[in-house]
Amino acid sequence: MAGRLIALANLKGGCGKSTLALNLAAGLARQGSVGLVDVDPQGALCHWAAWASGDGFPEVLAGGEYPLETVARAARKHHRVVVDCPPSLDMVITCRILQQVDTVLIPVLPSPLDLWACAETVEAVRQAREINPGLKAWLLVNQAEPSSALSRAMSEALTSLDVPAMKCVVRRRAAFRTAVVEGVSVYQMGARGREAVREIDQVIEEVLKP
Ligand SMILES: Nc1ncnc2c1ncn2[C@@H]1O[C@H](COP(=O)(O)OP(=O)(O)OP(=O)(O)O)[C@@H](O)[C@H]1O
Ligand SMILES: [Mg+2]
Repeated sequence: MAGRLIALANLKGGCGKSTLALNLAAGLARQGSVGLVDVDPQGALCHWAAWASGDGFPEVLAGGEYPLETVARAARKHHRVVVDCPPSLDMVITCRILQQVDTVLIPVLPSPLDLWACAETVEAVRQAREINPGLKAWLLVNQAEPSSALSRAMSEALTSLDVPAMKCVVRRRAAFRTAVVEGVSVYQMGARGREAVREIDQVIEEVLKP
């Protein structure tokens, strides 16, 4: 099944891993149970879950001392699993997780500088494929400027890495920040979250395509 175990990974911090992980998990939870594993020792998603859990929400599990076991446990219990990987310090853990999942999305901010900074993550994908050859990987542009197309420099840079870019992009939208502040995902924001939901639904559709 495509997209049963999905990791959000980028060894560079602050690109939107946690934001996208929680909203993707919330979107996928509309189709079946989802475990959302928070491997980041800072535990941002666990804090969010303390307010957010309820019917139709993903179950958030702290990765804990043995994150690989936690991912495996979540996979036994849930229809799908989304894993929020930690930033740079935990390269080893991220590499191990990429050996265990079937899909990895690498969020990247819409600047060539940020894109080139994910070369190390792309290398981690290459290494993981030696053990996990079926691993699907995409770059996902996040926080794209609301009113403009990607710059030519960015579009060209996106083709320069060994991992392809998703067709859809996620724009910079207040709804993504507001949802976290309100302890919900964009799916619980009604009209205020409509455009953000449409984008996350597009990401889900592209990821789940067989
Ligand atoms: N599409 C978006 N629109 C608006 N704000 C966003 C979007 N994506 C992320 N953000 C904001 O950007 C900041 C960084 O996002 P986030 O914490 O998800 O990144 P991260 O990759 O998980 O960071 P870290 O590496 O520190 O774990 C947060 O303040 C978040 O609210
Ligand atoms: Mg994070």
